[in-house]
Amino acid sequence: MIDKPRDYAYAGQIKEAIRLEGQAKALEKIIEKELEILHLKPNMKALDAGCGTGFITRIMALKVFPGKVHGIDIDPIFIDTAKKLALMKGIENTQFELGNIDNLKYENGTFDLSYCRLVLMHVKNPVKTILELKRVTKKRGTIAASDNDDGVLISFPNTPKLLLLWSKFNAWAKNRGEDRYIGRKLFSIFSEAGMNSIRIYPIPIFATQQNPDALKMLVTVPIKLIQQDKNAMIKKGIITAKDYEEAMREVELALTHPGAFAMGLNILATGKVR
Ligand SMILES: C[S@@+](CC[C@H](N)C(=O)[O-])C[C@H]1O[C@@H](n2cnc3c(N)ncnc32)[C@H](O)[C@@H]1O
Repeated sequence: MIDKPRDYAYAGQIKEAIRLEGQAKALEKIIEKELEILHLKPNMKALDAGCGTGFITRIMALKVFPGKVHGIDIDPIFIDTAKKLALMKGIENTQFELGNIDNLKYENGTFDLSYCRLVLMHVKNPVKTILELKRVTKKRGTIAASDNDDGVLISFPNTPKLLLLWSKFNAWAKNRGEDRYIGRKLFSIFSEAGMNSIRIYPIPIFATQQNPDALKMLVTVPIKLIQQDKNAMIKKGIITAKDYEEAMREVELALTHPGAFAMGLNILATGKVR
């Protein structure tokens, strides 16, 4: 018996599909770095589990051509958007299907590589999820999972009001089952799932005033997440409208500083199937 999957907090929202596409675009360089580590090669068969709108599935597909990338997601709106975007961009070697990462419909040993990005933070039992990815991956194939660790968000000038808001948002998200500090647990999760040759790659995501657009985009990622839950958090008395407005003013000011710098952290784990 498979448990009912935990609800994705933003399921079924077209504005979340737009946010996911924007977030992936903002972090494209990091995603490229991760995919380089995975050594995708022509003719591989790969899985992008929890693919969202398929931004990464499309990049993977270009790398494995004429191989194929299967993108699965639990949300029909994201799968529908992913299908349309791949068609629009003329990428034919993707296949998008509705599916649950904890109960995949694929046979044992189907894929050379199974990857999931920003998904483990949403599942009920990440070890079980990795075991399911392991089941559908070939012997000596690779499993890769990438997640943020929201314990790392540093900037110059300092933004203490934003950081306070961010930690309240992370605690709020934890209450509904999202683990936004999962990055640091990936080694433990992969070990418990019996993965072989585990490697951990911390990948800093940073920008400076040398590239103001990148800086703004980087800071926009946490702000958009907070914004989505802002009214609910105010209603519950977790933050006030004043806390929010003051934090936004602080960020705007920080972004005008000639020496501005901001950094977050992504952690990629890879392991081999024995
Ligand atoms: C933060 S988004 C990341 C999307 C994409 N991997 C990316 O990096 O842009 C998390 C995705 O995981 C999906 N998801 C959550 N729980 C899932 C489950 N049990 N099975 C499949 N997908 C799931 C959500 O619908 C959402 O698209």
